[in-house]
Amino acid sequence: MSPKFEEIRRHYDRLASVYETRWPSYNTVQIDWMRRRLPQGLSAPAILDLGCGTGAALSDVSIHYPDARLTGVDGSAAMLEKAREKLPDAALLEKNLEDDDAFADLPAADIVFSFSVYHHLQNTDRHLQLLNRLTRGGGTVFFSGFAKDGAVMRMADGLFRFRHKGVHQAALPHRDMRQKIEDVFRGAEIETAILRPDRFWRIQIFKIVKEGAAHA
Ligand SMILES: C[S@@+](CC[C@H](N)C(=O)[O-])C[C@H]1O[C@@H](n2cnc3c(N)ncnc32)[C@H](O)[C@@H]1O
Repeated sequence: MSPKFEEIRRHYDRLASVYETRWPSYNTVQIDWMRRRLPQGLSAPAILDLGCGTGAALSDVSIHYPDARLTGVDGSAAMLEKAREKLPDAALLEKNLEDDDAFADLPAADIVFSFSVYHHLQNTDRHLQLLNRLTRGGGTVFFSGFAKDGAVMRMADGLFRFRHKGVHQAALPHRDMRQKIEDVFRGAEIETAILRPDRFWRIQIFKIVKEGAAHA
């Protein structure tokens, strides 16, 4: 196991019991944005959350799609344990998102999320390619993360990299992230926003609808 991945696991294993109460608005603002944009008319969609954490997003969409097949992937056993309490019937897999071989057998899903994960990863491009590969044609991706825009968020990015070395990698400004997404998801329909859950945080969020026939 890579030392960086081991550090991230330890970090979130420690945070799992307080994760949802420590940053409530940070998390709920993203789920609210997504909920208002969920694709309509899907029957029994396959939904995959990469970096599902405590399962808050999966749990929220399961209300909208009661017959959905839910899969969550995370590296922290303690975060997955919290997810399991909410989602006893979901497939919850403990994997390193940066281990390409770990995803060879996972089928493409109709809706794929990656919320607040990319700033932990060594390679954002590879993560976007994984999201693309694991989303079927016509499927929808919801992607969010730390937006390195404005002096406060630029300072915070530097501070987090210093204080949480190995856990917090680089964040990107919204314009650069949008460009990366357009490069990977060629021809996709993209909707995006900067969410401000409070005076400090800036979260960039994207809805990406891939080219292809919509699943019914
Ligand atoms: C900030 S939390 C976000 C959790 C959830 N997506 C949410 O929005 O509440 C980041 C999550 O990504 C997971 N994570 C970070 N790097 C990972 C990696 N390389 N492999 C698997 N999971 C990882 C952490 O364990 C943690 O649960």
